[in-house]
Amino acid sequence: MVQKAASSASPSTTTTISFFMAVILLLAIASTLSVVDAVDVGVEEELDAARAAIRRAARRQRYHNNPGVNGSVDDDALMWRVYRNPAAFRRSYVEMERRFKVYVYQEGEPPILHEGPCKNIYSIEGRFIEQLELMSPVDDAGGGVRTWDPTRAHAFFLPFSVSQMVKFAYLPLSQDRSPLRDIVADYVRVVAGRHPFWNRSSGADHFMLSCHDWGPYASRGQPELYRNAIRALCNANTSEGFRPAKDVSVPEINLYDGDTPRELTMSPAPELASRPFLAFFAGGRHGHVRDLLLRHWKGRDTANFPVYEYDLPAAATGAGGDNGRRGEYYSFMRRARFCLCPSGHEVASPRVVEAIHAECVPVLIADGYALPFADVLRWEAFSVSVPVADIPRLRETLDRIPAAEVERLRRGVRLVKRHFMLNQPPRRMDMFNMILHSVWLRRLNH
Ligand SMILES: *[C@@H]1O[C@H](CO)[C@@H](O)[C@H](O)[C@H]1NC(C)=O
Ligand SMILES: *[C@@H]1O[C@H](CO)[C@@H](O)[C@H](O)[C@H]1NC(C)=O
Ligand SMILES: *[C@@H]1O[C@H](CO)[C@@H](O)[C@H](O)[C@H]1NC(C)=O
Repeated sequence: MVQKAASSASPSTTTTISFFMAVILLLAIASTLSVVDAVDVGVEEELDAARAAIRRAARRQRYHNNPGVNGSVDDDALMWRVYRNPAAFRRSYVEMERRFKVYVYQEGEPPILHEGPCKNIYSIEGRFIEQLELMSPVDDAGGGVRTWDPTRAHAFFLPFSVSQMVKFAYLPLSQDRSPLRDIVADYVRVVAGRHPFWNRSSGADHFMLSCHDWGPYASRGQPELYRNAIRALCNANTSEGFRPAKDVSVPEINLYDGDTPRELTMSPAPELASRPFLAFFAGGRHGHVRDLLLRHWKGRDTANFPVYEYDLPAAATGAGGDNGRRGEYYSFMRRARFCLCPSGHEVASPRVVEAIHAECVPVLIADGYALPFADVLRWEAFSVSVPVADIPRLRETLDRIPAAEVERLRRGVRLVKRHFMLNQPPRRMDMFNMILHSVWLRRLNH
């Protein structure tokens, strides 16, 4: 299992990197191509205009990148290290704000449609659905992304929650997940029967979002949804049919009580000099990656390289119970230079976002994980990737990274932090808007 997993690590990185190249290159020819035949002319013209503007920005910046002339050399170099093409990103983001319209299907009833969990490891599912649903008609004139006029939409959202399906339609321990697929198939049948939009594109301008482990499974309930639609998933496992150029990788975030924990985001976060630990991990033995990590490192070097299996030392924070333990957990993250983020039962881990919030450099230990926002961000500028097979050499791998490089990585973390924050209401370039931007890029690329 380990060998097989290790060999699949680099192809996924290659796929995402070449995808951004593809954005730039494809934009050149995209104006003549379209999967959507009978689409409203205005909508297609808008997409063309956006493609042209992004292409111009990308080209201009490549030839006129003049570090040091405006702003410091350092800041400019940092931008170019962290973003694949800062100018192209800025332009595509502005084009999105100016033009992108999403139509949310109104069919269906809560709790499975139109709402999702807002308080647990799958909370991005509920937060995303809720934030779209909360947008009022006023926004239609005021520049919000949601539109009530489907003929103006560039993308169509299927507002179902796989987590809610698991909660309300799956019989625990039954091992029978087929109701999930049936609900998805049924929903697509309803919206395809009542509106012309699904059949027009065979689903290619439609999207769904799920953070549940079973999101990919449920999406197979409708073959066109699986094959053509944009599937925004936390479980972005390329070995399970996730396609980085078509689908969207969504960060996983654990909102225990509905909010980003304050202990994590308190500023300022400690500097490197105040972080005594090389690296930190605490968590359960879920899946083969965690098992390997714990077998090699659990309890070996708690003074420098603390790795725990849910058994953090007695909370020193004063508060008892779960809150105290969580406070202790976050305080470890803020005292470590690296935070280990191994896959669990699925590829994504909420630790990636937690580490970024704590300004601790994430160490990604996963095979076949397509990283969030990788068409915009260079993950290697703010994280370290370690193949599963290299877990036995983890401490020396991290130890060998020079202090100056750790500091560079941490500056990268600080720069991308805003993209991993959830705000209510959403703010520019935060996680909600970055997910939308990922959908927007894929629509441009069709
Ligand atoms: C950067 O450029 C803008 C306009 O291009 C100018 O207004 C601004 O003063 C410049 N900033 C610095 C630090 O030179
Ligand atoms: C879309 O196609 C399906 C399957 O062929 C069909 O049942 C449905 O009526 C079509 N929808 C519309 C709006 O024509
Ligand atoms: C990714 O998918 C493959 C194929 O189903 C599976 O063997 C592997 O365990 C998955 N990875 C994780 C971390 O779940």
